[in-house]
Order: sequence, then structure tokens, then C-alpha cells
Amino acid sequence: MCGIVGINGTTEVCFDILGALKRLEYRGYDSAGMATLSKGAFFRKRVPGKLIQLEEKIRACPLPGTVGIGHTRWATHGAPTEKNAHPLEGKHVVLAHNGIIENHEALRAQFSMDPFDSETDSEGIVHLLDAYRERGMPLSEAMSQLFQVLQGSYALAILFRDEPDTLIGARSGSPLVVGYGREGRLFLASDVVAFSDFCDEVTYLEEGDWVELKGAQATIHPDGGSGVVVRPRVPIGETMKVLTKEPYRHFMRKEIQEQPAVLRHLLTTLSDPLKKNTVAWASLSNLCIVACGTSFYAGCVAKYWFEKVARLSVRVEIASEFRYNHPALPLGTGALFVSQSGETADTLAALRFAKQQGIFCIGIVNVPESSLAREADVLWQTHSGVEVGVASTKAFTAQLAVLWHLVEEAAEQRKALSSEEKKTLDRAFQTLPEQVEEALLLDASLQKLAARFGHTTSALYLGRGALHPIAMEGALKLKEISYIHAEGYAAGELKHGPIALVEDALPIVVLSPYDALFPKTLSNIQEVLARRGQVILFTDPEGAEAVHSLSHRLHLYTLPQVSPIFAPIVYTIPMQLFAYHVAASRGTDVDQPRNLAKSVTVE
Ligand code: M6R
Repeated sequence: MCGIVGINGTTEVCFDILGALKRLEYRGYDSAGMATLSKGAFFRKRVPGKLIQLEEKIRACPLPGTVGIGHTRWATHGAPTEKNAHPLEGKHVVLAHNGIIENHEALRAQFSMDPFDSETDSEGIVHLLDAYRERGMPLSEAMSQLFQVLQGSYALAILFRDEPDTLIGARSGSPLVVGYGREGRLFLASDVVAFSDFCDEVTYLEEGDWVELKGAQATIHPDGGSGVVVRPRVPIGETMKVLTKEPYRHFMRKEIQEQPAVLRHLLTTLSDPLKKNTVAWASLSNLCIVACGTSFYAGCVAKYWFEKVARLSVRVEIASEFRYNHPALPLGTGALFVSQSGETADTLAALRFAKQQGIFCIGIVNVPESSLAREADVLWQTHSGVEVGVASTKAFTAQLAVLWHLVEEAAEQRKALSSEEKKTLDRAFQTLPEQVEEALLLDASLQKLAARFGHTTSALYLGRGALHPIAMEGALKLKEISYIHAEGYAAGELKHGPIALVEDALPIVVLSPYDALFPKTLSNIQEVLARRGQVILFTDPEGAEAVHSLSHRLHLYTLPQVSPIFAPIVYTIPMQLFAYHVAASRGTDVDQPRNLAKSVTVE
């Protein structure tokens, strides 16, 4: 989603701002801009579209100044045009905003005599600050007033025309980080990744903080007031620094390939006896898992695991629906929030809602500094490193591994698992990295398959039990990056409607290891073949044996024999590879697909 960058130094900043914006590209955006302050004048350039266009403009005519701000905008209010791109400029201020100002209409009404240049919700902030400065309000009073008036969520980077060499940041509901660079340069960004090449230490601003970056000094004011607070400076984690896709063409491809290594590392952290995160599973009567998108599908797999293995009743809720659905949360309910970014607005709002109801909240996140990580009562980290591709891959399989670990913990505490069963499952869990490695060997044949089906306009994905969510995840991956319509169904649902779609051109991806339900799925496959549909079957050696002579319309892919419990993790791999190769063959923007953002920080 939108990205903010600010730099205050002693040398020209415009190309470093550009570099930092490039590192935020992965968040998704559709326009970009930059502004600097030099000798009491603002300089500004904005473009609709991609950073490359901004770069061309800047290279043709660099912006002067040693202090500046930049922005990548993901349009919410107003189309992605130049006039709606940030930074937005007024008489006294120029600013970049992330988030949504909910009282923007009231602000437009308040300043109805002033012309508004854009259709954005953000421009009211410019008019407010201009009005405060016109009245001669000092900086600190203007910022305090601003906090009192603005409703909604915001992270701001602001330059004041008559505050030379000063960069202002403010946050409420959207993340903002201060970075301490070499040679006394100070940075501001919505994501550490923006400046991790320039800084070794950062401070994560808290809700209601605003910060003055002046000279080499960062002064933080808490609670939207004029007091001063000292917040810790923490080192930037190594994983934040590795942001190259080499030797692959896309980050997504690299991230798919990283999964065995991520799982290996995760297995060592999960078995760390020093871990402090504990949940009293036996005291819970039920669990509510809340998440969005791919993280929601991880929750759906976990529901199956928790109920089967730990005998704990689970419901899975889409975060954007949860708090508006008047959920009944009886005594003994625990809530588990799953999020790669830890900044998804819907998931965060759901967590805050659950906390207000006095519910114990467990978090699973990939970004340890995220808001969700800070606000959950108990936290598990997925340790996948930065995930740059908008389509989540390695974070998803890591979420599943962490979720499994919690299922086992719950099963033990609830005495739902014998020590023999636990040993067998543990052994199988430990072999996952190798099995994922084996699944990755399908790469070349899936590339060929993608070439064959790359022109399809629609696809169906079918799976049963814990593979039903993987069918939905496979369909989501295909939709996101190749823009092909796809739907995931429980295999048994085929005959209740989707079978009407079956025709020669429709690929139907079926996920079915040779388990107790295989014969039932085989019937569904027969139903499709009888109607001249194309089946792409992912199964194991026994399943392959059972279907090998079925039809030339059945495309067979054999995965390793895997414990049925862990099939969701292993069967995810070909879903990712197939979607990737289809998208790459269609030439879409795989890492930054149209209209999507890596972390959806607005409702
Ligand atoms: O950061 P989160 O896990 O909370 O994000 C949730 C969804 O926005 C995310 O999974 C989205 O669906 C991905 N683009 C899926 O690839």
C-alpha cells in the first residue's frame, strides 16, 4: 500500500529518496511523487504510474535540497492521477500521507472557501496546517491541534516552508519508523526496508507520536502533545537488508524457492525450549481464527488440524467481516490472528475489537515490529524474512508450520494425542523441508503445463478436507498474478453447480493424495472427464498408480508420499509454481500485480 519516505541530511537527498521509494515498490502503488525544501521554497514532482516515470522526470531536472519527502500512492479517494499523487502542497506545507482521513468531507466543508487541488481525503490536512500557520501557531501547537482534529488513520511526512532543515513525522493508526543514518542523516519511512541500506538502527514510533528530525537530532513527542519521550533505538534485523531477487527474474520465484530453507530455520526456532510464548490451551472452550486473503486460508487449514488433532472447536472468520457480524464470543473463547505483514487494517481492527471484549489474543506474524505483533497478547513469528512478492508464498507455508506447532501444543495440553502419535507426527513434521524440496522438482514440468494452459480464461481448483483451503489458495494465486478467473471448491461441491462450467477449455486442478477420501475425489474426476473437461491432478505415487490409464485428458503430477496431515504444505508448492509460470508466460507484473498492495493498510 502507500509508502512514505523522508530524509534530512547535509547533502542533496533527491536520488536517495528515489532509491528508498524503489525499495517500497513491493507494497503496491499506482502513482508516486517527491518534494524537497530548499532556501524556503518547495520543489515537487509527481507522476501517475510507476517510479520509473518519476525517475525520468527527476533525472531530467533533479530537485534541490538536503531535506525532502517521497510517496508511493495506492489510490483510495481519487483516481491515480498526477493531481491526486502525493506530496500535496499548500502555502506553508508539503506533505505525504498514508492511511485514510475519515472526516475528510467535514474538512472540505470547513475550508469550502479554499480551492482543493485534488480529490484525495488527505488534502484537508494541508488546509488545516496552512490555516494554523496563517494564525501564527508554532509548530508544536499546530501538530497538537492536528492530532485533535484528524479522524481515521495516518502516517505523515511533512515539510514546513518556514522550518528549514526540519522533517516532521506523525503517526496514528499507520506505521512510521525513524532511521539513524551514517553521517548524522535522519530518515523517516513507513517500512524499515526503505532505508535499511542507509541505517543500522531505528526507532518504531508509537501510536500518537510525532517526531521532529532536525540537524542530527530526532525529538519524539508522545500522545500528539508537546512533551518529549525517549523511545528505544533498535538494530535493523539482517533479513531486512537482503532484498535482491538474484538469480531469479522475480522475487516471487525466489521466495517460492526459499521455502525449504525457511521451514528448516523455523523448525529450529519452534523447538527452542527457551521460547516464552505459552497459551493455556486446556482453558479454551473454542478458538476463533481471524485473517484475510492467504492468511485466512492458512487459518482454514488450521481449523481442520485443531479440530481433528486437538479436539478444539474452531471457527475461521474473514477479518473485514468479523467485528461487524456481532460475533458471539462465549467465555473460554480465544482468538488467533494470522497476518504476514501484521499491518492489515482489517485484521488489526478485528484484534482491537476482540481485545475490547476481553478475549485472549494470539498473533502469528512475519514482521516482528508490526502493530499486530505489538498488540497481541502472545506472539509467534513466522521468520520468513522479508516477503517482497505481493503474492504470499513463503510466509504462507511458514504460517502453516507455526499453526501446526500450536495445534500440537494444544493437543498435548488437552491430552488429545498419545505420545506414540505425537512421535510419528513430529518425525513427519521434521521431514517437511525435504518434501517441499522434492515438490519443487516439479518446476520444469509445471512451466510446460503453464505454457499449455496460459491462455485459459478460467480455472477451477478442487480439494477435500485440509486441501480445500489449498485449492482456494491455488485459485487466489492464479487470479492475483495472472488475472485469470479461478475458483477453489470443496471437491464434493462440484456437482452442486460448478460442473455446469465444465467444457473442453476449462482446466480443473485437483489436489488429492491417496488417502481415505481419494475414491470419492476420483469419482469427481470421472465426472469431469465424462464431460470432456481437462483435469490436472496432483497426487502421490499410489494415487498416480490408481489413475495412470484413465484418460489423455488427465494431466498427472506426482508429489512425494506425505503424511496426510502435512499434505496442505507440500501440495501448496505446485499451486505457487503453476500460478507463477502462467503469470510469467503472460508477461504480467508478477511481483506487483495490478491493483494489489502487499499490505492492505486501509479498510
Ligand atoms: O499481511 P497479511 O497476511 O495480513 O495480508 C493478508 C492478505 O492481504 C494477503 O494474504 C493477500 O491476500 C496476498 N496478496 C495473498 O497472496
